[in-house]
Amino acid sequence: MAIAFSVNGKPVSVEADADTPLLWALRDDLGLTGTKFGCGISACGACSVHVDGNLTRSCSVPVGEVAGKSVTTIEGLKAADGTLHKVQQAWIEAQVPQCGYCQSGQIMAAVALIEAVGTPSDEQIDEAMTNICRCGTYPRIRKAILAATGAAAAVPAAAQTGDA
Ligand code: FES
Ligand code: FES
Repeated sequence: MAIAFSVNGKPVSVEADADTPLLWALRDDLGLTGTKFGCGISACGACSVHVDGNLTRSCSVPVGEVAGKSVTTIEGLKAADGTLHKVQQAWIEAQVPQCGYCQSGQIMAAVALIEAVGTPSDEQIDEAMTNICRCGTYPRIRKAILAATGAAAAVPAAAQTGDA
């Protein structure tokens, strides 16, 4: 069946069973491969996107449930003129990624957190940032989130804490 929704501000329609995970519609039907598959059971956060502004693990949402809704993926964060989102810029300046696999999901979670609370406390970061990173970039993720809100300088965590 044809399922219509919008992705990154543009109307799209995919031919898929309604119970197909949104993740596969994004990756396989729409070619938006920035959103990653990690666990498939809503546990790791690699597949995180925004649906009508809400942080959503796309491996566990049937595409039929997003009919008529607005989806934002990592590809849609930058401005129309190519300017990176302030969270993406902070990620680069803090040199967050290692292998990079989890990072689009981490950034989508961080953007949702900042949009919700402005400058988050350490406790709010701990509570909200439940995405898994096998490379252990958590200290740099925290630095980048705070830098994106102006609460800290976006210098690499290693320069401040000695981590690798
Ligand atoms: S792939 Fe969706 S939460 Fe892990
Ligand atoms: S950067 Fe490698 S899994 Fe997070």
